[in-house]
Amino acid sequence: MSEPLDTTPYDAAYAAATTDPEAFWGAAAESLHWDRRWDRVLDDAAAPLYRWFSGGELNTCYNAIDHHVLHGRAEQAAVIYDSPVTGVKQRISYRELRDEVARFAGVLRSLGVAKGDRVVIYMPMTPETLIGMYACARIGAVHSVVFGGFAPHELAVRIDDAQPKVVLTASCGIEVQRVVPYKPLLDRALELATHQPSHCVVLQRDVHPCALTPGRDLDWRDSAAAATPVACVPVKATDPLYILYTSGTTGVPKGVVRDNGGHAVALKWSMKHIYGVEPGEVFWAASDFGWAVGHSYIVYAPLLAGCTTVVHEGKPVGTPDAGEFWRVIEEHDVRVLFTAPTAFRAIKREDPKGTFFGRYDTSRFRALFLAGERLDPDTYHWARALLQKPVIDHWWQTETGWPVASNCLGLTAFPVKPGSPTKPVPGYVVHILDDDGNELPSNKEGAVAIRLPLPPGTLPTLWRDDARYVETYLSRYPGYYLTGDGGYVDEDGYLFIMGRVDDIIIVAGHNLSTGSMEQALASHPDVAECAVIGVRDALKTQLPIGLVVLKAGVTRDHATIADELVQVVRDQVGPVANFRQVAVVTRLPKTRSGKVLRRTMRAIADGDAWTMPPTIDDPATLEEIGTALRSLGLAKGPGSPIGG
Ligand code: COA
Ligand code: AMP
Repeated sequence: MSEPLDTTPYDAAYAAATTDPEAFWGAAAESLHWDRRWDRVLDDAAAPLYRWFSGGELNTCYNAIDHHVLHGRAEQAAVIYDSPVTGVKQRISYRELRDEVARFAGVLRSLGVAKGDRVVIYMPMTPETLIGMYACARIGAVHSVVFGGFAPHELAVRIDDAQPKVVLTASCGIEVQRVVPYKPLLDRALELATHQPSHCVVLQRDVHPCALTPGRDLDWRDSAAAATPVACVPVKATDPLYILYTSGTTGVPKGVVRDNGGHAVALKWSMKHIYGVEPGEVFWAASDFGWAVGHSYIVYAPLLAGCTTVVHEGKPVGTPDAGEFWRVIEEHDVRVLFTAPTAFRAIKREDPKGTFFGRYDTSRFRALFLAGERLDPDTYHWARALLQKPVIDHWWQTETGWPVASNCLGLTAFPVKPGSPTKPVPGYVVHILDDDGNELPSNKEGAVAIRLPLPPGTLPTLWRDDARYVETYLSRYPGYYLTGDGGYVDEDGYLFIMGRVDDIIIVAGHNLSTGSMEQALASHPDVAECAVIGVRDALKTQLPIGLVVLKAGVTRDHATIADELVQVVRDQVGPVANFRQVAVVTRLPKTRSGKVLRRTMRAIADGDAWTMPPTIDDPATLEEIGTALRSLGLAKGPGSPIGG
């Protein structure tokens, strides 16, 4: 059948991926090197658990690195490391990267790490982190990177779940001016964890070397120098490449599994068709290895596509100034940048007139992609006016591993509607559902769900927990994956994501569980009950605040207890939680069945309109919450009758 004349490349790709996903993704997979061709593109034998490219074998490291060394990119930069916090800049060619990865894979193998074994990585933004990840991929080991801003307790929980044979770490990270010694954090985590790795490999950094634990710890560089390089091992397309923990609503993180085959296919496809990037170009994702953005768009996708990736150890502001992003773009000829809106809000706050921007030549820069949180129209307009280049809002999650909705620059650039990540990416069939699972008409807000099967590269399951995967994501609306976001589709098919509908909050582009913060608060001996809610923040989108009820008979000063509680969350969850405010109340507002009314408290805190929940046990509790929130400088909006 011939296509209508006005069909765009986007429309054609979207229709092809929806009507015949096997043909669409099978064709995309041809661009990779397979050690064994797949038997089935889409395997639905265990539906609703789907697998992609079953029967196929490949190696992700081979496709991302070795293949390019053998096919004309040996001397091209694979990685540019730019560290304003240490003053180090380094260019690593594809050949050098292959050699370093092969040697470090030899280190892992000498420590007994084999196919399927787990390796936890708790490291800063250094090239060695990427090398450690690829070394795992090279031998079929499964890495699990834990973000450096998480505290020992969170690291311990992940170590116990992943049960790594080896942990990779560094003596320290550097946060602007502050050195964060990682080794004591790891030592503390291993005291808390039940599972113990047989070895830890430690990257010693000049700014803050550390003492090694005899018998357990090895020096990274000495081990690599002595190691025998190893070749890539073919693994099944359906074997796990990594586990990445993401916040769960209960406080127990969920181990998102990524496979090898579908992941490589989808990420390589996305570089060209979503980001519009060609092999040989420089792509920079200003994020952290510890997040999904870092995994997909610092480590894997750019190299699968034969691009150069930038590893930046710095911040958008303060290292040293709000011109840092423009400096990196000019100096390294970055064509496409990906970061979170909060980074742009931080730059805008320091340099509202774009004075720094004017000092650099960014004429070859093509587009800015933003994700991780809602891109508010103000930030969109500011960035667009400053850059005079496309500013693309796109929406995705750790679970999906690559964008669900985007303006696909490599297919068709549609007009932008600020506040919308445009349209679903080919492969994702997005529906807006009401409570009963009925499709809602355009412009009506509901639960955002994706029809199964999800495309390749998305999570096949949770680590060793198919039941939790099904319960969390697939059971609410049979036949659909529940995203946890609310939103709507407008009359032109543009998707609008309005925010989480569960107890996950988005702080500075980081997805955090209020449950884990409540767990930390509850561990304080004076706390009887508590609730953590996310309140609106102009810079970081949301910030958590705690409301606590003290045990009967506690007479200590509330300010002292509040300080201790802030420290408890910092110690147990980590500084990344940005938890700084607590109020003591005598009771929490609850329904008659005992459910804490978090959503109402949030509306009061934000100054939004709210109505008295009909199921509330005692309306007076909300009066007290309003007073407490006002004492924290919140509940000020006109919509809040008790907020004044
Ligand atoms: N290791 C140790 N501590 C870390 C850390 C790491 N890797 N990353 C952050 N932290 C600490 C910070 O130092 C800070 O500590 P503090 O309370 O002592 O000041 C705390 O965690 C909060 O960090 P953050 O919320 O990131 O705030 P910030 O003030 O350091 O930086 C931004 C603010 C906007 C510049 C920063 O959040 C940013 O660049 N975000 C956008 C990019 C991004 O990574 N997005 C995520 C996925 S796309
Ligand atoms: P994470 O798993 O940490 O990547 O967080 C995923 C969540 O971040 C999503 O479920 C959304 O709530 C939010 N998010 C990510 N990108 C966007 C976006 N472009 N617009 C709105 N929300 C977003």
